[in-house]
Amino acid sequence: MSALFQPYKLKDVSLRNRIAVPPMCQYSAEEGLINDWHRVHLAGLARGGAGLVIVEATAVSPEGRITPGCTGIWTDEQAQAFAPVVASIKAAGSVPGIQIGHAGRKASANRPWEGDDHIADDDSRGWQTIAPSAIAFGANLPKVPKAMTLDDIARVREDFVAAAKRARDAGFEWLELHFAHGYLGQSFFSTHSNQRDDAYGGSLENRSRFLLETLAAVRKVWPEHLPLTARFGVIEYDGRDEETLVESIELAKNFKREGLDMLSVSVGFSTPKAAIPWAPAFLAPIAQRVRREAGIPVSSAWGIDTPELADGAVKSEQLDLVMVGRAHLANPHWPYHAAKKLGIERPSWTLPAPYAHWLERYAVA
Ligand SMILES: Cc1cc2nc3c(=O)[nH]c(=O)nc-3n(C[C@H](O)[C@H](O)[C@H](O)COP(=O)(O)O)c2cc1C
Repeated sequence: MSALFQPYKLKDVSLRNRIAVPPMCQYSAEEGLINDWHRVHLAGLARGGAGLVIVEATAVSPEGRITPGCTGIWTDEQAQAFAPVVASIKAAGSVPGIQIGHAGRKASANRPWEGDDHIADDDSRGWQTIAPSAIAFGANLPKVPKAMTLDDIARVREDFVAAAKRARDAGFEWLELHFAHGYLGQSFFSTHSNQRDDAYGGSLENRSRFLLETLAAVRKVWPEHLPLTARFGVIEYDGRDEETLVESIELAKNFKREGLDMLSVSVGFSTPKAAIPWAPAFLAPIAQRVRREAGIPVSSAWGIDTPELADGAVKSEQLDLVMVGRAHLANPHWPYHAAKKLGIERPSWTLPAPYAHWLERYAVA
C-alpha cells in the first residue's frame, strides 16, 4: 500500500497526498509582479496532482529579492495578482502555499542563466545588500553587505509581517518563511555570516533571535487554523556538522514553541566552501533525526525524485511531506506517473477529468 498517496492534515488544511511542489524561483517577474508565466506554471503544477504547491521565494521588500526577476509581495498590487493563482491551484484540488523571504547578502544577483553572480557595482540594476554583518558570501557573490542596525532588523521583521498579511488576504492557505539557503534568516543563525556582538549575534540564543522574533510576529497575523512552516538549513557540510545539527534541533524546538507547524529541512548554503554529499535523498535521514528529536513534522527535498524513494521516505517515517522539485519541472504530471508506478487504483484520477477520462479509457505508456 502506498504511503505517498495517503492524505495528510496539518491544522485545518487537508492535502490529498504527501507530494509537495517546493518553492522554485522562476526569475521571470518584473518589479516583483507576477505575469502569465507564473499563472500557467503554477496552475499546471497543481493540475499535475501534488497535494501542495508552494509559490517561489517571494520577497518581502525590493532589496530582499535575489534577482531583479524575483517575485515580491511588498505591495497590495503584487499580492492581489496572486489571487487568480490561488484560485487555479485550489480549483485543481491542491493547496496554495507561498514562501516569503529576504535574500540578505545573496540579493542583487543576476538571473542564473545570466551569470548567477552579483550584479556589478556600477550597474544600475543592482542595489545595496544588507546582512547581520558586513561579510561577503564570496565566490560568485562578492558584494559586501551593509551590517544591519537594530532599526533595520525591526523594519525587516515588520516587512515579513506585512507580507504575511498580504499572503493571507490573497487567499494562500500555507505560509512558509524562507530561513534557509544562506539568505537573511539563515545568515543570522550561521557564524559564517553573523559576527555581531549585540543581542543578535554570538550565542545560540542570540543567533536565533531574529528568526524567532520574526516567526512570533508573523504567527500573530497568520491565521491560527492555517499551517505556518519555515525552511531552514540544519547542516552546512562545512566540517562542523554535528555541532550545527545539534544547534538546529534546539532552534527547531524553539520554532515549535513559537507556533511553527512544520519544518522544511534543508541545507544552509552559508559558505561556498561546503562539501555537500549530493546523492539521491541524502538529506532524508537528517530530516528524520530533526523530526524525532525536535518532535515537529518535517518535509524535505533534494533528489527524492523517484516514486519509490518518495514513497519510502514517507513509509519509513523520515518525512511527513516529500518535496519534489526539478522532477516536476521535467514532468508537471509527476504525481500521475508516481501513482501508476506505485500501483494506485485508477491513477488517471490524480489528474483533472478532462485528462483523466481519456487516459483511463485509452491508456498511454
Ligand atoms: C529553479 C529552481 C528554483 C528554486 N527556488 C527556490 C526557492 O524559491 N526557494 C527555496 O527554498 N528553494 C528553491 N529551490 C530549491 C528547491 O526548492 C529544491 O529544494 C531543490 O530543487 C531540490 O529538490 P529536487 O531535487 O526535488 O529538485 C529552487 C530550485 C530550483 C531548481
